[in-house]
Amino acid sequence: MCGIIGYTGHRPAVPVIMDGLRRLEYRGYDSAGLAFVEGRCLRVLRAEGKLAALDACLQGQECSLALFGIGHTRWATHGLPVVRNAHPHQDASGRFALVHNGIIENYAELKAELQAQGVSFVSDTDTEVLVQLLAREVTASGDVRQGIAAALSRVEGAYAFAFIDRESPGVVWAGRQASPLVLGVGVGEHFVASDIPAFLPFTRDVVFLDDGDVVEMRPDAWTVFDARTLAPRDKTVARISWDVQAAQKGGFKHFMLKEILEQPRVVRDAVAGRLRGSRVVLPELEGLARPERLVVVACGTSWHAGLWGRYLLESMAGIPTQVEVASEFRYGGFVVRPSDTVLVISQSGETADTLAALRMARQAGATVLGICNVVGSSIAREAQRVLYTQAGPEISVASTKAMTSQMLVLLLLALHWGEERLTVSQRETILHGLLALPEIVEASLPGLRHEAQKRARVYAAARGCFYLGRGPMYPLALEGALKLKEISYIHAEGYAAGEMKHGPIALVDPEFPTVAVCLRDELLPKMRSNLQEVAARGGRILAITNPGVEIPAADTWTVPEVPAPLGAFMVLPALQLFAYEVAVYLGCDVDQPRNLAKSVTVE
Ligand code: G6P
Repeated sequence: MCGIIGYTGHRPAVPVIMDGLRRLEYRGYDSAGLAFVEGRCLRVLRAEGKLAALDACLQGQECSLALFGIGHTRWATHGLPVVRNAHPHQDASGRFALVHNGIIENYAELKAELQAQGVSFVSDTDTEVLVQLLAREVTASGDVRQGIAAALSRVEGAYAFAFIDRESPGVVWAGRQASPLVLGVGVGEHFVASDIPAFLPFTRDVVFLDDGDVVEMRPDAWTVFDARTLAPRDKTVARISWDVQAAQKGGFKHFMLKEILEQPRVVRDAVAGRLRGSRVVLPELEGLARPERLVVVACGTSWHAGLWGRYLLESMAGIPTQVEVASEFRYGGFVVRPSDTVLVISQSGETADTLAALRMARQAGATVLGICNVVGSSIAREAQRVLYTQAGPEISVASTKAMTSQMLVLLLLALHWGEERLTVSQRETILHGLLALPEIVEASLPGLRHEAQKRARVYAAARGCFYLGRGPMYPLALEGALKLKEISYIHAEGYAAGEMKHGPIALVDPEFPTVAVCLRDELLPKMRSNLQEVAARGGRILAITNPGVEIPAADTWTVPEVPAPLGAFMVLPALQLFAYEVAVYLGCDVDQPRNLAKSVTVE
């Protein structure tokens, strides 16, 4: 978590860093800070809370002469989100300032060692240990590169860092180990950041840094070297095709709303170029056999997409599929055989647990495929093959369009691997439906939003909420509940509708409504029975269903009927808009909900 940025060049560094931090704030917003050198003076400014607080701190400060510096936006891991723990951190002599994203796992041991040597600490963070260690090693060797190598050889854990040295004008050093870091190559200026949008207004030329890379950048040059051996490492500069506009709000009140409303385009783009007649063509999989068994691994919303995909991969492609939460998969001792295919799903491509699961799967000799949104991310690079979801940058912490795009790729995979099992007419029905989908979603979004707004007023007072579904609608129930709880802070749980009577139903009362996803399908009679059980106990029901479906005693909210399994793409925006409107009605901070972060690069 946390966002870091470094700049050196010909522009005043502070506005460039602040601008970059604004685009990194989705990574954490417990505190923010920056450091720069003016003349021979290293200055550090930090503020608790969102970036606006740091902005306020900067008012009236004269810092236009600084041409290099670093910045940070924090998602707290070690120590309270207070100024003393905000980054940048400094060594005791005040020569170095460092920002860090990740966790130094052996920080307690290193801290004790440094304390025994007389170093005193002013924060509770693991990051301060890193900067103090670095200062000790640079002082001992008399050389910054040597000092970096010596310090990093002692450090265990995940990190991306950037630091400046009062004695080295114009130089920024940065490095990574298991946390994201990208170098931005400009003309007479260079950038380093946790994510590309941070410097996209200034350059589209980027170098994706790898684990063990350290970069030394000056206004007119950059060098990447190996953190252990200090040998230079060859790197290629890639050009980013998307622009800042694509990563900005485009006039919408919230990124979340913008991203929900982008879904028709997302459907179009995910499918574009992948259909030939009644066949799905995925050049990314060329030369790979159809998997014998699939293990899908992901976190959060991506895990829900995987759970939905399982129904299709089993029923359409006939592939035995297991879906695991990455943090459980890592330590569960589950069996992965070389003949298995492990499919990791991640919007950001940087989620620490998912990345670790990918590495375990590779070590076990399995074939590893990735479904990713962020091009060049760690997961995209380390998977043997990657299918990009092409959803465009997703900024809102609550994931929306990314899930739609992941589900589309999973559907394409099921059709591709199921080609032999499905009849041409079965495939054609789905593919024709898929091609018509963007227009249907587009046309229904304004109505869905209106219905969501109306209902937000009614349901915002709920004490808690159940979300029920069966079959492929069960993962959507989980996702609906996740969306509601993460942005409105209303307690919400998703259940397989048939499981409801095994305990959860005890909570049902008029203040604890049930959102039921019950489309016209073969499971509808079962859903009806489950909902009767809820109604009989005084529970209010909001039923998301198709026109003409009767759900007794329910507030029915209809979405257009499309061929199975495409109904999910109509239900998902309704659930997202419902959560969105409830959160807006309650006055919550939709794009930056408390305690959350977009990219979870810690375990
Ligand atoms: C965080 C985000 C979620 C996301 C999850 C997995 O918790 O807040 O929205 O679903 O990480 O992220 P990934 O980038 O791996 O899909």
